[in-house]
Amino acid sequence: MDVRILFTSFLLVLTHMRIVLAPMEGLADVHLRRLITAQGGFDWTVSEFVRVVDRLYPDKVLYGMCPELKNGGRTDSGTPMRVQLLGSDTEAMAANAVRAVELGSYGIDINFGCPSRTVNRRHGGAIMLCAPDSVYRVVSAVRAALPANVVVSAKMRLGFDDTLLMLENAAAIEAAGATELTVHARTRRQGYAPPAHWHELARIREHIRIPLIANGDICSVEDYHRCVAAAGTVDVMLGRGAVRMPSLARQIRDNCALESPWASIEPLLGDFWRQIGPGLPPRDRIGRIRQWVNYLRQRHPEAEVLWQIIRQEADIQRLDAVF
Ligand SMILES: Cc1cc2nc3c(=O)[nH]c(=O)nc-3n(C[C@H](O)[C@H](O)[C@H](O)COP(=O)(O)O)c2cc1C
Repeated sequence: MDVRILFTSFLLVLTHMRIVLAPMEGLADVHLRRLITAQGGFDWTVSEFVRVVDRLYPDKVLYGMCPELKNGGRTDSGTPMRVQLLGSDTEAMAANAVRAVELGSYGIDINFGCPSRTVNRRHGGAIMLCAPDSVYRVVSAVRAALPANVVVSAKMRLGFDDTLLMLENAAAIEAAGATELTVHARTRRQGYAPPAHWHELARIREHIRIPLIANGDICSVEDYHRCVAAAGTVDVMLGRGAVRMPSLARQIRDNCALESPWASIEPLLGDFWRQIGPGLPPRDRIGRIRQWVNYLRQRHPEAEVLWQIIRQEADIQRLDAVF
């Protein structure tokens, strides 16, 4: 470990870090959010994005995408859940934000990072980073519609094609009254290709006064320390790393690089399989369990063995026997 990393570790003892479970549409649904936050270490989690077009959704849509709203806005382990909204219609964004908070959301997060072409074509997600004034308008509208004590956060990438407007976007988000900013350390053009450019976050950190939450490729305790040293913030959001290693937030908090044994992860798969059963058609249920095992096998050799058993299995009874 180099001196910078050691110094950062020392600072961590003095500073309270915040660790957030990332929004991951089609992956971190209510069931995975429940199982992962139950492993401990997370301060809050963010819902999959709710795409706002031009109107206020009926409550059943928000309840459907964010069932934690029926549980006081928390996962079963008590971790607060923040609804994430995506869209550029200021009135509709504000109206849905107000309703989500009335229903119990722990603040509102606004998505300026989604790379989907369909979403971007409709002026939502990362494309908005090409126009900092529209970023400002959306955050302002949501901020103005909510009581001052309610958190309004935003999540952005470094930019769309490049980082030229990165500081302007971060400043617009701050000026519009957001209380914190999460940045996925890649442009939209960079997609998910490694590496994440944590050093760019340090430039943002120097440019704004609101807390900055670093995100992208933090998959181990060592990654955490390297990211903190590069980005200059102790607050992080964990996405795929926590899907592969559900105890990652706790490990970071305990500063303990010792990996959780497979025996502590395997029962979570059984839980997940049973939980998703009632709500999904068999094909989708099988798709979801395969999806998680596929992530887990990137980290655990035991999951690779399991993957070979289930990858072509389409019989629910046989899968019941496996899980
Ligand atoms: C399957 C998937 C779905 C995602 N959905 C969302 C989303 O709904 N909202 C959002 O802001 N980011 C979303 N992201 C981006 C993540 O929140 C995060 O920024 C990204 O995965 C990088 O962090 P990581 O390397 O820790 O996973 C998604 C990522 C993945 C892999």
